[in-house]
Amino acid sequence: MSERAIGIFDSGVGGLTVFKEIERLLPGEELVYIGDTARVPYGCKSPATVVRYALEAANFLLDQEVKMLVVACNTASSTALPVLEERFRIPVVGVIGPGARKAAAVTRNGRVGVIGTMATVKSEAYTRAIHALNPDIQIFSKPCPLFVPLAEEGWGDHPVALMVAREYLEPLAAENVDTLVLGCTHYPILKNTLRKFLGDGVRLVDSAQETAQTVSRLLKSDDLYRSGKPRPPRFFVTDSCENFEKVGGSFLDRRLDGVQEIQLGFM
Ligand code: DGL
Repeated sequence: MSERAIGIFDSGVGGLTVFKEIERLLPGEELVYIGDTARVPYGCKSPATVVRYALEAANFLLDQEVKMLVVACNTASSTALPVLEERFRIPVVGVIGPGARKAAAVTRNGRVGVIGTMATVKSEAYTRAIHALNPDIQIFSKPCPLFVPLAEEGWGDHPVALMVAREYLEPLAAENVDTLVLGCTHYPILKNTLRKFLGDGVRLVDSAQETAQTVSRLLKSDDLYRSGKPRPPRFFVTDSCENFEKVGGSFLDRRLDGVQEIQLGFM
């Protein structure tokens, strides 16, 4: 079992922010990644649709015989995690819990901003998770849907991204938040832009690093660390391999060859 791969999925390139941290922390593990690029964005879809998409991606990864499932998508984590945990017998790791833990630990003034997709913000998953840790923290949430296509386009550092960031984040800055949870795995691709607008006074919480730590802890506690020869990662998308190779490759800072196109569900 321990020699098997870890399966990671997202609606597109965003989950690569989590992939990158897992790969950095656990270089001996084999990683299999799916970006559901034919159906991105998930953030404006209904919970029922997101659950169906998540089950389809998870089933594909299960067919690849993965030993663990990482839901590298906040939208899917906030809506589908309980279903996935109930349906599958392997460990399932989402990104909300790790991000919430980090935010609760680092805020000094108890005023935390949460940005995410419409679906994630509506689900109030972060509010519940942060309040379970500390009910006194005040949370200010804001959906930022346009950040997803900007990231998919490779425009994380573009002046247009800065204009959009200003529009979305001004109200949060006015609330004097000292911590901002990047509650969508696409958003770290815009980190430089967010930093440009917010300055150094606001701590950006990217759940990718925390999620990688959680994966590592689980591998250890379940005795699932891989010890075999390193194996290269495998990447699958449901549409446009070239765009994923270009944008994903530039984010990971290496050539992404051999990305395979697959079909999920009844497309
Ligand atoms: N990266 C995803 C998330 O963390 C999904 C973004 C989207 O597809 O709308 O929510």
